[in-house]
Amino acid sequence: MNLRDLYINYFISKGHKFIPSAPIVPENDASVLFNTAGMQPLIPYLMGKKHPYGNRLVNYQKCVRTNDLDSIGDKTHHTFFEMLGNWSLGDYFKKESIAFSFEFLTKVLEIPIERLAVSVFEGNKDIPRDEVSANYWLDLGISKDRIVYLGMDDNFWIAGEYGPCGGDSEIFYFRSNEEIPIKFDPHDHRWVEIWNNVFMEYNKNQDGTFTKLPKKNVDTGMGFERVAAILEEKDDNYASSVWKDIIDKISEIANLPYEGNEKSMRIIADHIRTSVFILADNAGIKPANTDQGYILRRLIRRAIRHAKILNIDINSNWEELIANLIINKYCKYYRELNDNKNIILEELKKEKDRFNKTLEKGLKEFAKVLSSSNKIITGQDAFKLYDTYGFPIELTEELAQEKKLNVDIKRFKDKFKEHQEKSRIGAIGKFKGGMGSNGEIETKYHTATHLLNAALKVVINQNIHQKGSNITEERLRFDFNCNHKLSNEELQNIENLVNKWIKDEIEVKVKEMNKNEALKIGAECMFIDKYPDLVNVYFIGDISKELCGGPHVKNTKELNHFKIIKEEASSSGIRRIKAILN
Ligand code: ALA
Repeated sequence: MNLRDLYINYFISKGHKFIPSAPIVPENDASVLFNTAGMQPLIPYLMGKKHPYGNRLVNYQKCVRTNDLDSIGDKTHHTFFEMLGNWSLGDYFKKESIAFSFEFLTKVLEIPIERLAVSVFEGNKDIPRDEVSANYWLDLGISKDRIVYLGMDDNFWIAGEYGPCGGDSEIFYFRSNEEIPIKFDPHDHRWVEIWNNVFMEYNKNQDGTFTKLPKKNVDTGMGFERVAAILEEKDDNYASSVWKDIIDKISEIANLPYEGNEKSMRIIADHIRTSVFILADNAGIKPANTDQGYILRRLIRRAIRHAKILNIDINSNWEELIANLIINKYCKYYRELNDNKNIILEELKKEKDRFNKTLEKGLKEFAKVLSSSNKIITGQDAFKLYDTYGFPIELTEELAQEKKLNVDIKRFKDKFKEHQEKSRIGAIGKFKGGMGSNGEIETKYHTATHLLNAALKVVINQNIHQKGSNITEERLRFDFNCNHKLSNEELQNIENLVNKWIKDEIEVKVKEMNKNEALKIGAECMFIDKYPDLVNVYFIGDISKELCGGPHVKNTKELNHFKIIKEEASSSGIRRIKAILN
């Protein structure tokens, strides 16, 4: 029996009800493009709502994570993955959860205990150290040397900025043939995390405080692809039974062996599989220039490019053969693949045909650009490749990287803005919304928005973040999380602070940074997944740092005077400020 069935059957035997996977595109949550964890569709129930299936649930959930899209091509990364999860909604807690995990791993999957290690939450000033979980692990026979206590960054889990959360206990497997060290070192990469048991006792409120949830829940997640590869003792995930037939099909179509062509074959396998699942979703996502549709477009076009690298005849029905295999393989578990089969195949072909029309010429153009450029692909050239030849900017970046060149992303964005492709703006790193045109006054409002965001943090609290923004020539509008109406005094203080910063004549600087580096230094950002790897971070002195596509004024003095004209509720927990410059 396979891992999926073993998992589901085991938890059903422990009184859990099977619930079908929710769609990949969240139904009631516009803050994320795709579900990234099994618990996401269950948030209302983790918060206390009664679930129609009861309080013990199990499933496999379709997830898409695009934050490390560029890593696809190595042995372990995938954009689409399935998460095996079991939940207790106010029913059992740490003891049973740990016991179930242990029994499933050691008895059902027969993983030797010597290969296992765990981490538990070391606690912080508000939440106690989790000796309870550690003791359960000890009771089950995990030695003291194999239990580590880790802090908020590692062993506290929350899906986004706020919501249900709690300390967790992660289970690691020693994935190597080398001798297993007695002591568990979580920094040793041979230990890979296979399962996360989150003990959801808290709700993180929008003001950053924690309150106890009405009931204590358990949320667990196990990465199906990873564990399948481990059980099959494959060092390369793509060599496991999850992928092997897809890789074999690609190898057959290309008439080339996997060895030596791994990267392109993995990219094609991964990207076509994810595209098939996105297209099958009832949300009806189609390749487009924004949001989920843009991710889909990037995936398909990148797969096509790699098919070309393998000398696959692009005009043949190669993508259909691969998609059909994926549909047949998965439709038993996800019937929407069969139900929407025609749409999937049609859309893949249409996008292929659209891109094929220009790909060849685009690649020639790229070669021309290469021979004429020194060290950098100019923004102008990148824009031409985008606009005339349909090369997503990330594709141009990938082509450039292969030649050890950089792309002038900043100039590309400028060019892009010049052409005012409003709808597409969101997808290249400018997700602040509402910046359709970029006249002088809008540029000022854009900088004012950053100052307002920073002032709210000072006057109200540090946990305030942007939830939406819109700029016209007349005013700025800014939505942010906050669960009280701002008092006149608070509004006055915010206004005064912004005006002080304007008077202080602070310089505005932009720095191109790697996305992770930007997050590390605490730069503000609304939808991290949507940004490309290289981002622009705007610094206003040491008052504000934000990921942003710009443009901005050079100095705050250009803003003159800032005035709040309205404060109102936007939606539950979200307030809205309108302000003008005069
Ligand atoms: N929600 C938890 C995770 O994704 C289980 O790791």
